Amino acid sequence: KVLARVGLTSCAGFLTGCSGVQSALDPHGPAGEELARLIWSFTALCTVIWLMVMGVLAVALVRRRRQAADPLETDVQSEHAASRAVLMAVVATGLVLVCLTVLSFFANRTLAGIGADAELTIEVTGYQWWWAVRYENSEPSRIVTTANEIHIPSGEPVRLVLKSQDVIHSFWVPALHGKLDLVPGVVNTLTLQADRNGTYRGQCAEYCGAQHAHMGVLVIAQPRVEFDAWYEAQLQNAAEPSSELARQGRDLFLNRPCVMCHKVQGTVAASNAGPDLTHVASRKTLAAGTLSMSRGNLAAWIADPQSIKPGTRMPTMNLTGDELNAIAPMEGISRDGCNSGARSLF
Ligand code: CUA
Repeated sequence: KVLARVGLTSCAGFLTGCSGVQSALDPHGPAGEELARLIWSFTALCTVIWLMVMGVLAVALVRRRRQAADPLETDVQSEHAASRAVLMAVVATGLVLVCLTVLSFFANRTLAGIGADAELTIEVTGYQWWWAVRYENSEPSRIVTTANEIHIPSGEPVRLVLKSQDVIHSFWVPALHGKLDLVPGVVNTLTLQADRNGTYRGQCAEYCGAQHAHMGVLVIAQPRVEFDAWYEAQLQNAAEPSSELARQGRDLFLNRPCVMCHKVQGTVAASNAGPDLTHVASRKTLAAGTLSMSRGNLAAWIADPQSIKPGTRMPTMNLTGDELNAIAPMEGISRDGCNSGARSLF
C-alpha cells in the first residue's frame, strides 16, 4: 500500500512537472517547440527500443527455463543463431545512434537559424545568486537596467547576450529555449522568442553554490505596446516620496550601506554590485524568485536575508520595526505585487 502511494505520488509529481510555467514539454516559442519535438522523438525511439529489449529478455528467460529442463538441447546451430542475433543488435544500436545524432544535428541547425534579425539585445549577467539585466541601446540615456525579470515583446526574436561575473551559471527558461551557460570571460548568445503573451519561469541550471536553487528568473512576454510602455516607465527616475513615511524610508536607504551595492536611478545610489532597485516594486518577485513581491516579504527580506537565503551577499541590516515600516512601504504597489504602474522604491 505504502509502495503504491509512493509510486502514485512520484508519478503525479513527475506529471505536474510536465505542465505550467516552467516546462520544456509545454513550449511557447519556436526554439522551445523545436526542442520539444526533439525530446518527443528521442522518447518515442527509446520507448520502442525499451519494449524490444524487454521482449527479447522475456523470450530469453522462457528459453533458458526450457534449456534448464533439457541441458542437451544446446547445439552448434543455436550457438550460430545467438552470434547472429548479437551482431544484429550491434548494427541496430549503431543505426539508432546515427539516427539520434542526425535528429539533434538538424534541431541544432534550426535553433541556430532562429531570430538572426533580432532587433532588441539584452545583456544578462549571472551573479551568485541573481541575474542582472541590461537592455542595450545606442543612446546611453535609453539603456534600461533591471534584475531577475526580463520583459520581452511577444512574437519577436530577442537576442540575449549571456555573461557571468563570478562562477558558471546556466540560463534556462524551459518553455522558450534550451540551457546555455554563462561563463566568466566568455560571451554566449541565445535568441529568445515567445509566441504567446505570458510569464515564463526560468532557473539557473548549473550548480553555482549554496543558493543555486534560489536563482530563478522570470521572462514576461507582452504585446509590443505594453512592452514599450514598460520600457518607458523603467527609464523614469524613482518617484519622489509623496508621504512622510516614504521620505523617511528614502533617507534611511540613502544613509545606510544599501547604497554601497544598489542603484536607484535618480538618487546617489549608483552601485552595480547588487541588483538595480529602480522600480523594484514593479517586479513580481524578490531575491531572484525566492519570494513573491509584497510589502511584508520585502520587509522580511531586508530584516533578515540570511535566514531566507543563507549565504546571500545581502547583509542583515538590524533595522527597528519602525525603520522597516518606513523602508518598505512600496507606494502604489497593488496587493498582488504586479502593478506595472508601481515605479517607486520608496
Ligand atoms: Cu547560478 Cu546555479
